[in-house]
Amino acid sequence: MPVPTSAMTATHQDLDLRLISGEWPADIEGEMVISGPQVAHDLPFALFGFGVMCRLSLQPGSHGAAADRFAWRTNVIDTPSQRLHTAAPDAFMSSPTGYMGPLGFPNAANTAPLPWDGRLFATWDVGRPVEIDPVTLRFRGEVGAQESWGPATMAANNVLPFYFTTAHPVIDPERQCLWTVKQTFHASGGTQLHVVHWDGLGTQVRTWPIANGVVFGSSHTVSQTRDFLVLADSGNFKTDPGEMAGGARTVTVDDDAAVYLVRKDELLASPDGAAHDGLPFRVAPTTGHFYGRWDDTDGVRVIFEHMDRMDLGLKLEPGDLDALGRAIDPALIGFYNTAMAPSTVSEVLFDLDSGVTKQEAALRDDWTWNLELSAMDWSVAALEQPVRHHIAYQGFRPGTVSQRAVQLYGDRLGRLPDDDTPGALVSLQRGSLDVHARWDFTDLGDHITSPAFAPRPGGERGGHDGWVVLPVLSDDGFRVELFDAADVGRGPVAVLASPHGECVPALLHSAWMRNDEAPVECERLRFGDDIDESMLAMLDPALADVVRGVVDDLDDTLA
Ligand SMILES: [Fe+2]
Repeated sequence: MPVPTSAMTATHQDLDLRLISGEWPADIEGEMVISGPQVAHDLPFALFGFGVMCRLSLQPGSHGAAADRFAWRTNVIDTPSQRLHTAAPDAFMSSPTGYMGPLGFPNAANTAPLPWDGRLFATWDVGRPVEIDPVTLRFRGEVGAQESWGPATMAANNVLPFYFTTAHPVIDPERQCLWTVKQTFHASGGTQLHVVHWDGLGTQVRTWPIANGVVFGSSHTVSQTRDFLVLADSGNFKTDPGEMAGGARTVTVDDDAAVYLVRKDELLASPDGAAHDGLPFRVAPTTGHFYGRWDDTDGVRVIFEHMDRMDLGLKLEPGDLDALGRAIDPALIGFYNTAMAPSTVSEVLFDLDSGVTKQEAALRDDWTWNLELSAMDWSVAALEQPVRHHIAYQGFRPGTVSQRAVQLYGDRLGRLPDDDTPGALVSLQRGSLDVHARWDFTDLGDHITSPAFAPRPGGERGGHDGWVVLPVLSDDGFRVELFDAADVGRGPVAVLASPHGECVPALLHSAWMRNDEAPVECERLRFGDDIDESMLAMLDPALADVVRGVVDDLDDTLA
């Protein structure tokens, strides 16, 4: 039973974690923030529930915890979407893309935390970034008024607009702005990319369409170098119109995907709405997450965390058999179908002059199953000269691969392992992708999640001088393992555990943030200013009154 059922059944709660082994370093600083959904068993994808932000203080005795305990604090983010769902649940119905209804499409904000100089944002692929208070974890405002984002991806009542965006906007440390994307439907059947820029200070964003930037999967990550935005078709989640209409899923992901490089300063020098072309490239296999090197003087270099034969459009359904022919654990219905091939990591050079994509290094082995997520040093110095890249591989999990998925992909799959394989935390050398260190999680009941890199104060930058913090889900209780980033192969230097074996449900991305920066005071978007009477006039009067009530409640809360 390797994927713990508690990933789908536990509930988020505050915990005061205790040290159960090793020695906690005295000089580690900051906080780890982690996004996750409320597991929503009324949705086909149970992980499309409303977002929760979790925060682990890396110093004991913080945020109300005893002197020898570590505060794990959680909050369901009280966005307008979440508040409206709570106030009028009958106005929402479930769909393969989450909730929908007469108000539009709620923003679940459940996928990734995005720190920015003392501020904290929560993101997901189908909604604007949401700013939250980094201490209380409560809602502050969505990024950019609807009028500045322009038409929503799908027309509806835009009390809750549907913006197909990215789960990973990026902060530009030199220009001090946030770059993200919006997608609109394109005549080809794909979606058109629009770059979205926000200066962080007001309620307006700027947008520019990328005329040749069409994707057919999603744009899960936005990355950058000093001068370029790196946009890509993630390729791992394709909408299936037949499935949307109630049929069986037949769409599969592609073998490669498009990449577009867009010069930032050409966008910024042009009027809002001016069309630009990106420099087009291809990359294979499809990819969820990727990170550019800051220096682009001799080409754009990107590390890609590929998701080989990982189709995030496939979920576990009632009646499914798993890869070994067993009935799927009913508790895991709604979980995603995990990888059907080992994952590749690659270092790629996009040559701007020749237009050639050159793979400079790659790692794919019989143990690299389910590349989950990674940890890296996000300082500019480290983006210039990255040293180490830490990846959590979860191992092959036949219990969460359906026979239906295996048959859908047929001979596009190699032979699958006969059983579960261990997960591992692995440190790769940047450039060569040589394995510098590896720690196997031999207990197959350990479900390792998203690692974060905490730099050593005053240390060298590059991802090798500090710690890797790794939350581990288990039906035996939640743990957080701390590794020396210089040698994760030594195993954890310290382990925290929930006080009474409490479990924590599925977690998604994490990030490290300082906790000594005061958030800027600036104008934030007021929900009431983002909707107008014409939207309310289209609603049942009672539902319109619910919306007005949420506007008033938010005004009171944020006053
Ligand atoms: Fe992601």
